[in-house]
Amino acid sequence: MSARPFLRISTPVNGLLAALGLAAVAALTTRNIGATARLSLELLLGGLWLFYVVQLADTLVLWQAADRRTPIAELLIDAAAVFVPLAAFLLVDSRDQSLFCGIWLLKPLRESTFFRLLGRVVSRAAPNLIGVTSLFGIVLFGASLIAYLIERDVQPDKFGSVPQAMWWAVVTLSTTGYGDEIPQTLAGRVLAGLVMMSGIGIFALWAGILATGFFEEVRRQDFVRNWQLVAAVPLFQKLGSAAFVEIVRALRPRVVPAGAIICRKGEAGDQMFFIVEGRVAIATSSPTPIELGPGSFFGEMALISGEPRSATVSAATEVSLLSLYSEDFQMLSSSNPEIADVIRKTADERRGVAPRH
Ligand code: CMP
Repeated sequence: MSARPFLRISTPVNGLLAALGLAAVAALTTRNIGATARLSLELLLGGLWLFYVVQLADTLVLWQAADRRTPIAELLIDAAAVFVPLAAFLLVDSRDQSLFCGIWLLKPLRESTFFRLLGRVVSRAAPNLIGVTSLFGIVLFGASLIAYLIERDVQPDKFGSVPQAMWWAVVTLSTTGYGDEIPQTLAGRVLAGLVMMSGIGIFALWAGILATGFFEEVRRQDFVRNWQLVAAVPLFQKLGSAAFVEIVRALRPRVVPAGAIICRKGEAGDQMFFIVEGRVAIATSSPTPIELGPGSFFGEMALISGEPRSATVSAATEVSLLSLYSEDFQMLSSSNPEIADVIRKTADERRGVAPRH
């Protein structure tokens, strides 16, 4: 059996199966559960465990045979999903055995690109995150000390020591406010207000740093991907590095499935397209549609003349495109007139054979 097809379907299934297993683990901890229900849930866990054994075998086959590109984390997660519950079954008191299936919480992480992205964001933003965390620690400790000084004689049971006051400081700084410890003195209440305001600021900083980190990381990934796509279009290969960066920023990638219509005859057109991969069919008045392949462009006629689209263009195969909007075309025309000239000349040539309105 080939490992690859099995693993390919497992990505969405993994999350679902893990959720099912964890729901069964949770259900098994409820009191007064009937014997039949218990047996069914245990059988479900057993079935899932068998599924994970097969998945581990597949991962091992893939890891050994297919150039060992499977990340080690995936292999470790698959191994833990099998061996932790197995060890629990052999060694642990039967009441707690199913709890060890909680290790399946890790399963949805095995192929997740989000957690890799999160890791990169956190590592890049680490200095700022450490800065804000230090600020959190300073405010937390300072507030606990002051609260202890102010409230210790009034409420010795709740603010009788700095560690006790620290619980109040965490609850207040995070603006959770359980209300189990409330300052009684005026000074204590003023302090509580200040701590709450600091908490809002600190959490806003954390959120801001992470949001900026995510935005930059996604933009960086898009830029690298666009760079590779733009480099595949011969027309742009002559560009200098500054102009190349400019065009990479301006072009937007898009994948169109085979058979889909990209632009229709008669519509207004505010963008043109460059073909990176695949082919498009242009339905002109000639009996056989004209096909264009990688490196070609289309949609330039409406963009330049402002007239409606001269023909309907559809994807002959799945096609990877880069689109350029009219405002970016103007920018390209002024910074790289030679490229704009090639596009204009091609439009003129095509206009000679294309149906006119
Ligand atoms: P536009 O008119 O904006 O939209 C349809 C596109 O099909 C057109 O731009 C050209 O890019 C392309 N096209 C039209 N006629 C021809 C042709 N004869 N040869 C190649 N491409 C064409």
